[in-house]
Amino acid sequence: MRQKGIVIAIDGPAGVGKSTVGKLVASRVGYRFVSTGKMYRALAWKALEAGLSLEDDGRLVELARALRWDFPKGAGPEADVSLDGRVLALELSEERVSRASSAIAKLAGVRLFMKEMQRQAGLDGGVVMEGRDIGSNVFPDAELKIYLDASPEARARRRVGQLKEQGLPADYAEILDFIVKRDAQDSGRKNNPLKKADDAHYLDSTAISREEVVETIVGLFAAAAK
Ligand code: DC
Repeated sequence: MRQKGIVIAIDGPAGVGKSTVGKLVASRVGYRFVSTGKMYRALAWKALEAGLSLEDDGRLVELARALRWDFPKGAGPEADVSLDGRVLALELSEERVSRASSAIAKLAGVRLFMKEMQRQAGLDGGVVMEGRDIGSNVFPDAELKIYLDASPEARARRRVGQLKEQGLPADYAEILDFIVKRDAQDSGRKNNPLKKADDAHYLDSTAISREEVVETIVGLFAAAAK
């Protein structure tokens, strides 16, 4: 039994709402929320800053090990990511960082580094952790695993809506293309590809609301945490 509760693993493709849903679930059950995508993004951002090749696994791992990683408490259930004392926020959602994070996430050494850090962050439980390989690789022993899915078109439509709400330009065809390419890269890679763990609950949110997804997971939590 873990000290602070169970581990809830939420995996799924880009833009499916894992973070939104994960944070809402974490707030409802009083758990911490950890986005592992943010960790890959932070290292990718630093690699771009340092001008490192995004294919050099050895140098990237060296860089990751030399950095001081902190997770100071942010707003809500989610911690911020800070590298050598610099809290990273908006820069992590830049498109160049998205692409770079997907590229470095292919590398075996980088993935091992991330897995160790993520296991440390969740070992005591009381955590909702989202990513691509949490249920299948980082916490194969998670007490509750969710695989959240939605069609690429539905994910692109939602993304367009979010951008428009923020008054930002949004091109549906371009966004759909970006989503399809990132899916292919994340599912097609050799090391810990995006995939549903055998014992994960499959939730397709194409036709149901975020609220319904959250209710379903909170219901599963009540049964799993008994
Ligand atoms: O969820 P996200 O878009 O913030 O993730 C950024 C990239 O990191 C994504 O393209 C795939 C990778 N990633 C991963 O390979 N494994 C994880 N557990 C989380 C993210």
